[in-house]
Amino acid sequence: MSVLIKNGRIITADADYIADIFIEGETISTIGKNLTVKADTEIDAAGKLVMPGGIDPHVHLDMPFMGTFSSDTYETGTRAALYGGTTMVIDFVLQKQGNSLQAALDEWKGRSDNNCVGDYSFHMAVTDFNDETKKEIQHFIEQEGITSFKTFMAYKGALMIDDRQMIGLMEEVKKHGGLINVHATNGDMIDYLVQKHRGEGKLSPLYHYLSQPEVTEAEAAERFVDMANYTGCPGYIVHLTCEGALNAVRNATKRNQNVFVETCIQYLIIDASLYEKDFEGAKWVMSPPLREKKDQATLWAGINQGMVQVVATDHCPFMWEQKLMGKDDFSKIPNGHPAIENRMELLFSEGVSKGKITLNKYVEVSSTNAAKIFGMFPRKGTIAVGSDADIVIIDPNEKHTLSVATHHMNVDYSGYEGWELTGKVKTVLLRGEVAIDNNECKVQKGYGKFIKRNKVKQVI
Ligand code: URP
Ligand code: ZN
Ligand code: ZN
Repeated sequence: MSVLIKNGRIITADADYIADIFIEGETISTIGKNLTVKADTEIDAAGKLVMPGGIDPHVHLDMPFMGTFSSDTYETGTRAALYGGTTMVIDFVLQKQGNSLQAALDEWKGRSDNNCVGDYSFHMAVTDFNDETKKEIQHFIEQEGITSFKTFMAYKGALMIDDRQMIGLMEEVKKHGGLINVHATNGDMIDYLVQKHRGEGKLSPLYHYLSQPEVTEAEAAERFVDMANYTGCPGYIVHLTCEGALNAVRNATKRNQNVFVETCIQYLIIDASLYEKDFEGAKWVMSPPLREKKDQATLWAGINQGMVQVVATDHCPFMWEQKLMGKDDFSKIPNGHPAIENRMELLFSEGVSKGKITLNKYVEVSSTNAAKIFGMFPRKGTIAVGSDADIVIIDPNEKHTLSVATHHMNVDYSGYEGWELTGKVKTVLLRGEVAIDNNECKVQKGYGKFIKRNKVKQVI
């Protein structure tokens, strides 16, 4: 099977030129001007942007959480991702306290094996680091191709680990060439504020937001970078939302510490005023919560300063009926919001079309940096000879409107209902197959492959 993409404007993290791309099998075999080679399929990309397929390194599919499961399965979630131009996702396996990492991986494989439409990998979330867990780290990195380990400094009584476990895990992960991801918010402070608000009868979604003020994130981010500095372990802060937390990272860089930062599309474009809509605010109950306009400005600046390397989603969808579990108590609203399908187009429209970021920066933060940080570059995250032919073709001028009526995520509302965007995903290729064309999915569940990742060696 071969594909020829003609006359597109090819954008990578560091290039911008018009050329043809010839794909044989799963990978790119030639890039050049006016290629005359015959192909099974030819795509005319004149006037369009041809970019590396998006990589979303923070999604939660079919995940047991807060007494229910996130509503996208591996099939519906990875298919929706493809519709939106994301060809690969990294999901999270959650260790059960008292059980092994392997037991959790087996459980997650049971839900994901042969069910993905797009490519995927896992981070391993360590919720109970002890002498037994410690012995499993090397195997995960060297045999399973799972090289990043997620930790939670929050969700007290459920997923949270203490600093003693964090330091021990960091030492072990560093020894074997891995990376620690962290949900960096202060779980004890949040727990105190949640109980205080509940005790005062303050039970609406607004109090979810008021229970996680900026200081809870700034404090934990600073503590995390200090521990990473002490142990020398590479660190990656997931879903960073605010000025205080980014300033903690800024300070760490003054001592030449290399710590990676991810924000999510929602923190760049919507803000905490949504929590004033009574229970409708539950649509945006996520942790950390949405912040202020000044934090959005900080995050856009952080992207352009190279302090924020990745824009992900933290896609963790719940049906409205599931959100209603917390109608009388904000602390019971399942945390998370749907965005896996919308990230690439929202970032394009709000970032590139509105002049906040360049096209090269767009590719860097939506694909290339995630591939580098998580050990997949240059197989993924770029358009180059030998790379997987994961490609998204965007019409930069087409206007369209987001809606639950047209999205493919398995969730019965959109956090972005009625948003008018400029720039639309037209065609998506995954490992040389046309996966999306003209708003139609052409690949089946089972096509998505588990991608084994390398040790962390690439410094951005
Ligand atoms: O609200 C969120 N973020 N839900 C998913 C779990 C997490 O903390 O990433
Ligand atoms: Zn989190
Ligand atoms: Zn998450």
